Amino acid sequence: GVVASPSTLAPRVPPTTNPSLTNPPTHKRTPKDFIFGKVIGEGSFSTVYIAKDIHTSKEYAIKVCDKSHIIKQKKTEYVKREKEVLNMLADAKHSFVRLFCTFQDAERLYFVMSYAKNGELLPHINKVGSFDIECTKFYSAEILRGLEYLHGLGIIHRDLKPENILLDDKMHVLITDFGCAKILKDDPETPADADAQQQQRFRERSGSFVGTAQYVSPELLINNSVSRASDLWALGCLVYQMVAGLPPFRSRSEYVMFQKILKLEYDIPDGFCELARSFVNQLLVLEPTQRLGALDEHGAGYPSIRAHPFFEGVDFETLHEQTPPPIY
Ligand code: ADE
Repeated sequence: GVVASPSTLAPRVPPTTNPSLTNPPTHKRTPKDFIFGKVIGEGSFSTVYIAKDIHTSKEYAIKVCDKSHIIKQKKTEYVKREKEVLNMLADAKHSFVRLFCTFQDAERLYFVMSYAKNGELLPHINKVGSFDIECTKFYSAEILRGLEYLHGLGIIHRDLKPENILLDDKMHVLITDFGCAKILKDDPETPADADAQQQQRFRERSGSFVGTAQYVSPELLINNSVSRASDLWALGCLVYQMVAGLPPFRSRSEYVMFQKILKLEYDIPDGFCELARSFVNQLLVLEPTQRLGALDEHGAGYPSIRAHPFFEGVDFETLHEQTPPPIY
């Protein structure tokens, strides 16, 4: 009989298509899969680059961390935490930067994340001086939605500030930078857990300060404690800054700034929208449990914050489908 030659038994592949150009690669990626462009962000042990996937031409933000630097600075926990939180947020439909993949080489760790085309919120505030009330409402509402989702998962951001609020190509909010985040473990009411959390506080107290000075909550300064309400304090600071153009507690001296936070020493400038003033006043409250939303049921969002007259007319359910108001 006739025996087929090996070449005729081989599956037929259309000769004109190179699979690596049409399909995303399924292999573990390497730096060679991307063309690295300019630096778009810098941290103490990481640099964020814009990068293009050579297979798809899609743009990403790639955070590159120097391994030896992380180990020397004892920051391995922060890097692990950031990856863990980003993975927990992988199913979120909006509000957060997405982690697409990670890989490493001998010296570095790579986090491939969504590229927020319009960068940080801060320069947008600074460019126009301050936001009008429509803009402030919209961006405050998008940030609140992000916090509702995050807190629903038991994650506290702990470093919310206008540098960590990014804006995508359509000017919607993408919250980033989870290196300082805390993941609340289940049932923190048991004595063993309470004790573990207390010990964690002592460890962190002796280590480097966690969080950003201008937005730091009074409870962190007093007893190094954090809760969901600490992010609500930061939300109050953010809303203030959008309206006034500057954060509420400012000083060239960090010591003086901390004193101001502990004394709740901030002023409301002339012309500050009355509803925004009332809203900010209810978030910038020294006692965490007295802040607006602090007593709302965990995992059910923040109905008492949404219900504040400041947000009147905002449809929280469709925010991400709305066209953001223009920033003048
Ligand atoms: N800066 C830091 N991270 C970024 C990102 N994901 N997109 C745009 N700019 C950034």
